[in-house]
Amino acid sequence: MQKLIWLSDLHYDAQALVQSHDPRVRLEAAVDLINAHHTDAVCCVVTGDMVETASDASYAALKAALSRLSVPVLPLTGNHDSHALLRAHLPLPDGAMPDFVQYAVALDGHVLIALDTLDEGKDSGLLCEARLSWLETALEAAGETPVSIFMHHQPVKLGLAMLDPDNLTNAEAFWQIVDRYPSVRNVFAGHVHRPTTTHRKGVTITTLPSVLYQAPPEHPPWDWTTFAPAREATRLGVVHLGPEQTTVHFEKICAYDHGGAP
Ligand SMILES: [Fe+2]
Repeated sequence: MQKLIWLSDLHYDAQALVQSHDPRVRLEAAVDLINAHHTDAVCCVVTGDMVETASDASYAALKAALSRLSVPVLPLTGNHDSHALLRAHLPLPDGAMPDFVQYAVALDGHVLIALDTLDEGKDSGLLCEARLSWLETALEAAGETPVSIFMHHQPVKLGLAMLDPDNLTNAEAFWQIVDRYPSVRNVFAGHVHRPTTTHRKGVTITTLPSVLYQAPPEHPPWDWTTFAPAREATRLGVVHLGPEQTTVHFEKICAYDHGGAP
């Protein structure tokens, strides 16, 4: 059994509030929780939106904040990130794909694959031909070892009216590859700032609340003109990867008001 910690959507900024929330206070609370209770995790995967605005200053400040973590960090890109700036500031595992934030990590009895779905300048995601080809090669290399894929943009419609349009735009191409590899057990995605789970053809797709702020639930209906973060706690995922099953615990990092707007 492998245990790893999963965070998503830090939207870190060196100085500013983001959606009236303090990203420094909220990440600090997550780091404190991990260091207090999860030092036995093999790594901490962050499914993108590492920073709110991609700049050297943002990534440098984030790197300093993450340096307090007692477990290794595996970063991914989200739509708020930059391939080049993230790579310039945050180390990636050996063998990462050139120019992108995409890599495979061999765990004990499991393979973790991190995909880079950033389509710079857009909120929606994309896996270009080069990244899809890399994925196919990585899945081939994994053989029959169980695989979990981490990515920012969700590759399925989740029934979230305002968030579904900004998912992985070429999800069909992604599934055309993944469907040929029964070794793939899980997809873990960020982006929607809400906890959901979907089962599709033998693969469980799970999304995670943000470390910073949550999107509202579907009821009452909302749109981007009425958007306001939900008054919900922030959570991390404690992912237990076993040979026959995966279990995710959603653990509260802090109550809504901790670092949030009054
Ligand atoms: Fe986000």
